[in-house]
Amino acid sequence: ALPAKSSSAVNEAILSIFQDINLNILAYGPAEAVEVNNVAKHYFNSQGKNIRPNMTLLMAKAVNSHLGLDLDFNVYSQQMKVAEVAEMYHTASLMHDDVLDHAEVRRGRPSVNSLWGELSSIRGGNFAVGLASSEVAKLKNDEVLYCMSKILESLVIGELQQMSASHKGNNSDARFQRYLAKTFNKTASLMAYSCQSAAILAECKAGQDRQLSTMAYNYGKDMGIAFQLMDDWLDFVVDAEQLGKPSSADLKLGLATAPVLFACEEHPEAMGPLIERKFSGPNDVEKALKIVMKSNGLNKTKALAENFCQSAILSISSMRYSQAKSDLEDMLKFVLCRMR
Ligand code: FPP
Ligand code: MG
Ligand code: MG
Repeated sequence: ALPAKSSSAVNEAILSIFQDINLNILAYGPAEAVEVNNVAKHYFNSQGKNIRPNMTLLMAKAVNSHLGLDLDFNVYSQQMKVAEVAEMYHTASLMHDDVLDHAEVRRGRPSVNSLWGELSSIRGGNFAVGLASSEVAKLKNDEVLYCMSKILESLVIGELQQMSASHKGNNSDARFQRYLAKTFNKTASLMAYSCQSAAILAECKAGQDRQLSTMAYNYGKDMGIAFQLMDDWLDFVVDAEQLGKPSSADLKLGLATAPVLFACEEHPEAMGPLIERKFSGPNDVEKALKIVMKSNGLNKTKALAENFCQSAILSISSMRYSQAKSDLEDMLKFVLCRMR
């Protein structure tokens, strides 16, 4: 079981194992692309948590250790590139996301769109995707190229699934399945495919079949779904200043996330109509907030996130012990108690 520790102790312990890889990312931008480069750099210079690249690097180290490749710097530097690309794709998606969501704040500072306008934000995102994708191509590994491309496809599909989510006439099971499918595409796919890619690079070097990379994929997938469940939980629990972005944002955007869907199972008459009209009526957001708070929706969301974390631990249980494997397990504790 995951031991109960105070949030701040676990937060600090986990963040201390994180590498600062921002400088490597910045090094790729050609100097002549000044405008777009500055826009792209805005978030890389800020206080992001770097969860995705750190997870990818820990997975790389755990798999390398399992296969006896610990000292193969060539493989590790390729895996480092995958980690950097993961963060670049993520940041690019945020530049597009903040335009779609009309977000003014990101990572505790003004968003790119609020500083330089929506078109700049889209261009900055496209630039980061282009830059990162050419780094993937340089790895000359078709399987990794396929996995990393699936991230871009999945992120866009996830956003489309979220936009088009119509809740009319759906039973709660169907709603929940759609929410989980969207959550995989929007959040977990990036973690799953980055971990898988790091493991594939090691398996190729060691001449192994694809068992470890399947485990790595499953770890990333389950950790990613847990991460998004907690993100959706935080949106109800933490105030905007602590979060570094507005809270109750999902309701205001018309989105029914896990806490709302669970609350709806307990109070279908009250919550159902609000979900169907996407909280667009007068005071709908406040009404939905009240129903969530009097239901077990938040507890159930956290319990589901814990289940996904347990499943992520199981996915890598047959990997040989290493510090990195232990750090991957610790990272799941961070997911469950992070406050931003
Ligand atoms: C944040 O979600 C957004 C994402 C996880 C993905 C957004 C993806 C796109 C906009 C597709 C475009 C992708 C690329 C690679 C250019 P959120 O809005 O729920 O979270 P937030 O509160 O952090 O804004
Ligand atoms: Mg957003
Ligand atoms: Mg969004």
